Amino acid sequence: MINPNTIQTIFETSRVEEVVGDFVTLKKRGANYLGLCPFHNEKTPSFSVSPSKGIYKCFGCGKAGNVVGFVMEHEHYTYPESLRYLAKRYGIEIEEEDVTPEMQQQLDEKESMLALNTFITNYFSKNLFEKGEGKSIGLSYLKERDLREGTIQKFEIGYAIDQWEDYSKHALANGYKKDILVGTGLSIEKDDSLLDRFRGRVIFPIHNLTGRVIGFGGRILSSEKSKAKYLNSPESDIYNKSKVLYGIYFARNAIVKQDKCYLVEGYTDVISLHQAGIENVVSSSGTSLTVDQIKLISRYTPNITILYDGDTAGIKASFRGIDLILEQGMNVKIVLFPEGEDPDSYARNHTTSETENFIKNTAVDFIVFKTGLLKEETKGDPAARASLIRDIVQTISIIPDGIVRSEYIKECSVLLGTQEQILINALNKILRQKFSKQANIPSEIIPHEDIVDVRSGQKDVDPLDISYLENDLARLLLLFGNIQVKVSTEDNEEHEISISDFIISDLDNDSLNFENKIYQSIVEEIKNAKEKAEVLNVAYFTNHPNPAMSSMAIELITSQYELSENWEKNKIFVKKEEDDLFHLALSTLMSFKSRLISKKLNDISQQLKVATNDAEIYLLQQEFFELKKLTNLIDAELNRPFNY
Ligand code: CTP
Ligand code: MN
Repeated sequence: MINPNTIQTIFETSRVEEVVGDFVTLKKRGANYLGLCPFHNEKTPSFSVSPSKGIYKCFGCGKAGNVVGFVMEHEHYTYPESLRYLAKRYGIEIEEEDVTPEMQQQLDEKESMLALNTFITNYFSKNLFEKGEGKSIGLSYLKERDLREGTIQKFEIGYAIDQWEDYSKHALANGYKKDILVGTGLSIEKDDSLLDRFRGRVIFPIHNLTGRVIGFGGRILSSEKSKAKYLNSPESDIYNKSKVLYGIYFARNAIVKQDKCYLVEGYTDVISLHQAGIENVVSSSGTSLTVDQIKLISRYTPNITILYDGDTAGIKASFRGIDLILEQGMNVKIVLFPEGEDPDSYARNHTTSETENFIKNTAVDFIVFKTGLLKEETKGDPAARASLIRDIVQTISIIPDGIVRSEYIKECSVLLGTQEQILINALNKILRQKFSKQANIPSEIIPHEDIVDVRSGQKDVDPLDISYLENDLARLLLLFGNIQVKVSTEDNEEHEISISDFIISDLDNDSLNFENKIYQSIVEEIKNAKEKAEVLNVAYFTNHPNPAMSSMAIELITSQYELSENWEKNKIFVKKEEDDLFHLALSTLMSFKSRLISKKLNDISQQLKVATNDAEIYLLQQEFFELKKLTNLIDAELNRPFNY
């Protein structure tokens, strides 16, 4: 645990332009710096660093963050790892927070497990390259599979001797503790001795994001049907199967560069493709993909291509897993390998460019693929066809982006030979049900027009959603909070007020809070500072030690309206905002309140529906009309010609 004072010192000392400058060649442009983005391929620089705000932002790929965020993103470090990196870079001594003995013990235990895994990995590797049994059985097998020595070493592939007490004894003799050996699953306790879990197998170590070995997969070499082909480490404090992808450590940089991740089924598929020079590939190791694994990939790219070996039963079984990927807003393509081939065999029997071309030319969009496959199956069966349409539309409805959805509707209507409107109706029905579930209101009271016809490709916002208005207000607070504006009071006296005072006092007057906790804590922090007569600037928030806060702040200020190198592009917005900040703040507040009231009105009409008692009905109606009046006032206010 790094203590908070140290964290603050790290933030205060680190210069974003220096830290970024260690990795990216930056040129000064006015107050800022400009360079080639390290997170995507580009020829003209669109990666900007602002020393004053302490942040970076790429106008090509949209990546943005503060100095710690940059280290996390670039080096794929965790938050504490990045802090330690910066402390080292600037010679800051890290003071550790008191760690309870239990926490220390847990940390020590994990560290010991990782250390043991490193030790055993090296031992297995020695077995493979230096011991008779390893060479004659393990190494010759790998050679037969055309794996080169460099590849074997890169993936740290090894061999476990075919005996019951080989490496367990060796590890104990070297001071590794019994409970650590059992904890990693490498050894199994039996009576008073430790038995080796892996015997007579080729071993594939499984690496985490930082390259440390967290588990093992062992492949049997005999063709005994009674034994599983692969034996894997059980889950442990350091190995969580659902959170790791085999090969991610070796693939992450290539995934970012290619902006695409290939997903294969097995260890050997990953390794063979790597050996062929195709490195943006990971495997879920035979289990179905989890949300955590998808999120892991989405840290690097939104584009996933799944490489299947040619058996359709397996593919159909995986359809539901693919819906999970779509739900995360990722783009999914499918490649089907020829009957009897998998990526491993294909890569071995073809040149790299043949393999690359095959993947490129065969890749089909998942929804198109699914539509084609199901269409084939339901030929001449109208009943089955109806359920096919529902199935496809259901999948499309999962995609978070409305524009993407409408594109798919178009494409599938052509593929299926069905009128687009039929698909649109089916889609809207599903969407309505979804919104009503989320908002907890019956679907019939959500007006139809609010779920904008997908063809127009417009937002399909929940009519009761206030989050974007909260977002607008928070952004105004951050970007323009300290700007003084002139307002005239009712008796026509002019006085100055800061935008943040204006917004916050208005919210306080009506005792309103933001639903979004982080936005609300922005308000709280500004209020507290004001009490101490302090002024908080943007950098205070973008460099906030709470990473949730800093990333939210960065997100807010780098949204489409930001003043920036791309100033030209955004000029119109900027002008609009700064010209009439007061009215912008006012109208945003009004819209915010108007939405809140709509929400409240909705509640009341719900209560009215079930109310039975006359008095209760009367009171609800009163409240309803009061609110309605208020709405009219606000609407009138909102429609006044303000010129913004
Ligand atoms: N798998 C497993 N346990 C098994 C079989 C498979 O854990 N009994 C996992 C492994 O991660 C394996 C993946 O599922 O890599 C895919 O299985 P398969 O295609 O059978 O293995 P390959 O990796 O292709 O291995 P090989 O080419 O050596 O047959
Ligand atoms: Mn295989």
